[in-house]
Amino acid sequence: MLKLVVLISGTGSNLRALLDAIEASRDSDQPIDAEVVAIGADTPKANLALTTERGIPTFLVQPSDFPDRAAWGDALLAEIQRWQPDATILSGFMRLVPPRVVEALSPHLLNTHPAYLPEFPGAHAVRDALAAGASETGATIMIVDNGVDTGPIIDQRRIPIHPDDNQDSLHERIKIVERELLTETVRNLALGTINLKEIAA
Ligand code: GAR
Repeated sequence: MLKLVVLISGTGSNLRALLDAIEASRDSDQPIDAEVVAIGADTPKANLALTTERGIPTFLVQPSDFPDRAAWGDALLAEIQRWQPDATILSGFMRLVPPRVVEALSPHLLNTHPAYLPEFPGAHAVRDALAAGASETGATIMIVDNGVDTGPIIDQRRIPIHPDDNQDSLHERIKIVERELLTETVRNLALGTINLKEIAA
C-alpha cells in the first residue's frame, strides 16, 4: 500500500478527485493500492474539512507561527515524517517548500502545476498563459527540486486555450486534466511502474 501525505492551500478539489478515484477504484478490477494517510495545510483558509469529513487526519503548519521560513519548514517536515509516507504531494500548495524539506523528501516529493512546464512556472500560471496570448497551455506532474517549478517532469499534457476563456474557465479545464494525471501518477507509483529515483537521476 502506497502511503501518501498531501499538502494543500486552497479548495483542494484535485485532492478530492484523487480521494474519490482511489475510493472508486476499490470496487473495480484495477484498484489503486494507495492511501492518503494525512493532509497538511499552511493556512486555515485551506479546505481541510473535505478530509476531516472522510476521517483523514489533518495538520496545519502556518509560517506566521514560526520565527523564520527554516523553522516553519522544519515543523512542516516533522509533521509529514510522522506519517512515514512513501510520497508527499503538493496539490495546490501555494508556498515554496524550504530546501531542507526538499532535500529530506525528494524525489518522493511531487507537485501538480497548471501549465505545460517549463512554460509558465510560478504561482500565476493560468493568468500568465492568458496574458501571453498563448493558444495552448497544459498540466504537469513533477518532482519538486529547489527551483520554482524546475524539477524533473513525471507526466504532462497539452490543453487548448479557447478565444473566450477567462482565468476561471481555463483553470477548471486544466484541473480536469490535472486530476487525471495525478490519479494516473499515483496508480503508477503504487504499481511500481514509475520510479522516481530514475526520473530524478
Ligand atoms: C491546481 O491547479 C494546482 O495545479 C495549482 O493550484 C490549483 C489547486 O486547485 N497549483 C499551483 O499553481 C502551484 N504553483 P485545488 O485547490 O482546487 O485542488
